[in-house]
Amino acid sequence: MTVPVITLDGPSASGKGSVASLVASRLGFHYLDSGSLYRLVALLALRRGVALDDAAALASLALTLPVRFTGGRIVAEGDDVSDALRAEEVGNGASKVGALPEVRAALLERQRAFAVEPGLVTDGRDMGSVVFPDAALKVFLTADAAVRADRRYKQLIGKGESANLAQITQDIIERDARDAARAVAPLRQEPDAMLLDTSAMTIDEAVDQVAQWYASRRSSG
Ligand code: DC
Repeated sequence: MTVPVITLDGPSASGKGSVASLVASRLGFHYLDSGSLYRLVALLALRRGVALDDAAALASLALTLPVRFTGGRIVAEGDDVSDALRAEEVGNGASKVGALPEVRAALLERQRAFAVEPGLVTDGRDMGSVVFPDAALKVFLTADAAVRADRRYKQLIGKGESANLAQITQDIIERDARDAARAVAPLRQEPDAMLLDTSAMTIDEAVDQVAQWYASRRSSG
C-alpha cells in the first residue's frame, strides 16, 4: 500500500504552511515544509559566502545538507536555525536557489524520503507537480497578493520586528513572478489540484476544507 500524501502548493505567504501543519496534526501525519530546505540552502550559502547563482556549489550544499527536524525546530550544524530561516533575505535567496535545476534535483530524494506511514502533508511549490505526482490529494492554496502582504506584515510586527508594507508587497509580487516564471518546476496549479483561495477565510476554515476533501477522497476510493 502506498503512503498517503497530501500536497499543498501555492505562492509565498498564502498560509499554506500553517494550514499544512494543522492538517498534519489533525490526521496524525508527518509534515514537511519543503521551503525550509530551499531556505536552508540559501542560509548556508549566505553564511559561507557561496554566490546564489553558483549552481555546482549550491547543489553540493543541497546534497549534503546537515539538517535535523526535531520537535518542530530545525537544527543545522548543531545550531537552531528555525528563526533565521524565516528572514525575508533568506526567503528571497531561497527563491533564487530554487530556480536552479541542479539544486532542485539534489533535494528531490530527500523530500520523497519524508513520505512514511501513516502519511505525509507537505507544502511548497512543486510538491504535487514534481515531487509527489501520485499524491492522494493535491491542493493549490492561494490568496490575493494584498492579503498575503498584510498577513506577513502583521506576522512581523507581532514578532516585534520592523516591517514596511509597501516593501513586503513588492517583494511578494517579485517572488511570485520569479517562482512562476522559472523554467523548472514553476509554481502553477496542476489540473488535478483543488483550488483553495483563502483571501476571505480563517486558517481553521481552510484546514476544515482540506480535511473534508481528503475524507471524501478516501471514502470514494
Ligand atoms: O514556501 P517558502 O516561502 O518557505 O519558500 C521559499 C522559497 O523557496 C520560494 O520562494 C521558492 C522556493 N521553493 C521552491 O522553489 N520549491 C518548493 N517546493 C518550496 C520552496
